[in-house]
Amino acid sequence: MMKSNFLGMIQHLHPASLKYLSLGHPWITKDRFSTQFPKTPLLYWRDSKSKKIFIFIHDIHHPRVCARLLVMLSEEDLLIDTNFNEEWLEKHLTKILGQSVERRLNLSSLQKRNHYYLAFQEADGLPGANLLKLGSEILFVIHGSFWSLPKFKKILLTAYQKMASKYDLPTELGNLWFQSREIDPGKQANDLRWPECLGRPAGELSKKERKEIIISETGVNFSCYLGNDYDYGIYTDMAAIRHQLQEKVWWKDSRVLNLFSYSGAFSILPFTWGAREVTSIDNYQKSWQLLEKNLTINPELHIRHRSLKVDIFQGLQDLLKKEETQESFDVIIVDPPPSFTSQKSKISVEDFYAKSLPLYLKLLAPKGHLLLFCNKHQVTWPKFKSIIEAGLPQKEGKITEKFHLTDDCPTIKGFSEGDYLKGFLFTKK
Ligand SMILES: C[S@@+](CC[C@H](N)C(=O)[O-])C[C@H]1O[C@@H](n2cnc3c(N)ncnc32)[C@H](O)[C@@H]1O
Repeated sequence: MMKSNFLGMIQHLHPASLKYLSLGHPWITKDRFSTQFPKTPLLYWRDSKSKKIFIFIHDIHHPRVCARLLVMLSEEDLLIDTNFNEEWLEKHLTKILGQSVERRLNLSSLQKRNHYYLAFQEADGLPGANLLKLGSEILFVIHGSFWSLPKFKKILLTAYQKMASKYDLPTELGNLWFQSREIDPGKQANDLRWPECLGRPAGELSKKERKEIIISETGVNFSCYLGNDYDYGIYTDMAAIRHQLQEKVWWKDSRVLNLFSYSGAFSILPFTWGAREVTSIDNYQKSWQLLEKNLTINPELHIRHRSLKVDIFQGLQDLLKKEETQESFDVIIVDPPPSFTSQKSKISVEDFYAKSLPLYLKLLAPKGHLLLFCNKHQVTWPKFKSIIEAGLPQKEGKITEKFHLTDDCPTIKGFSEGDYLKGFLFTKK
């Protein structure tokens, strides 16, 4: 392989990077070796043991993730393709995006909704990027800086358009949206968002450039907004889990409590699964507005819903006070952010669960179900389970099921960052 301005050779890898790579982890993080990598946009590493060639995209600006695996090649592959330039990258991306779309064609859960991931980051061979179909719109979500560089953004866009024309997917620039998830988590989302179609530098969109669309999931409408915020109105990565949950018989005639309700996916869909009434808690005005809008655009559903527009602990306390008046629930759904502000202090999801788990036992009816989610990759599956077991003693019930990313959101063994969404079902005695 030739060293060029486009592709540089990694001379030395940290033993830990090598070990993780061999275990399926597709990232090289910052260390004394990776800071010495050539400053080329693509990098390659030849593993002398397996004789495999690993090609990475190189994120020079990222504070932690230096390189993300793009493809692993054998020596035979190298006989076919030796020119690892822009043209190769575009061809490679067109191919992997096509394969990714093909894998989704036969997924039955995708037939029931019109929002899903066409390509899900590393697990689909698209390192540092997600590609979503939201009704008639396409959203690229970029992590890190590599795909935000104009040259590579253009290559990604062209590869997408070439692939999309074969699968009857939107190709018009007016339907394509780009969202750059900035490296610095403190930065404002709006500063980072721009539609590529405008052909101008990144910047905040004017009101008329934003777009409202209605998407649907198992016949329920959800209002979504593009060009507005990080979160466009529904969590698509949770849709496959919602699909699994709809099968449960225990929704029938249930009283549901939905904590951190956001736009109400878990407040409205349960009515189509058999729920009798739903109480939602969220303290953010934007979330209530989204939920209220979604309640109004589903007039055919027989909805008995109430919103408690208060802080989570305030809401739980209010409900507990009514315990004497029989305020108990058959199903409680808990889906907190990785960290958030509650009663003026910052709280992590771990601490939130440690503090709140005993309260659910008081609010849950006998034989009731508690759905607990954690959306933080640093909290591993065993850690999350141990937090739950510490807060919910065995004599009260047990964990009966596990929910993870699936279908259009596949995961790779050995890559915990990509397996970020975890759910457990606890069933009370
Ligand atoms: C990850 S979203 C929940 C997604 C939702 N479960 C769904 O499936 O659509 C987190 C929500 O938590 C809400 N939230 C954050 N801090 C809160 C607090 N202290 N009290 C109540 N809600 C809070 C936010 O407003 C946001 O709507």
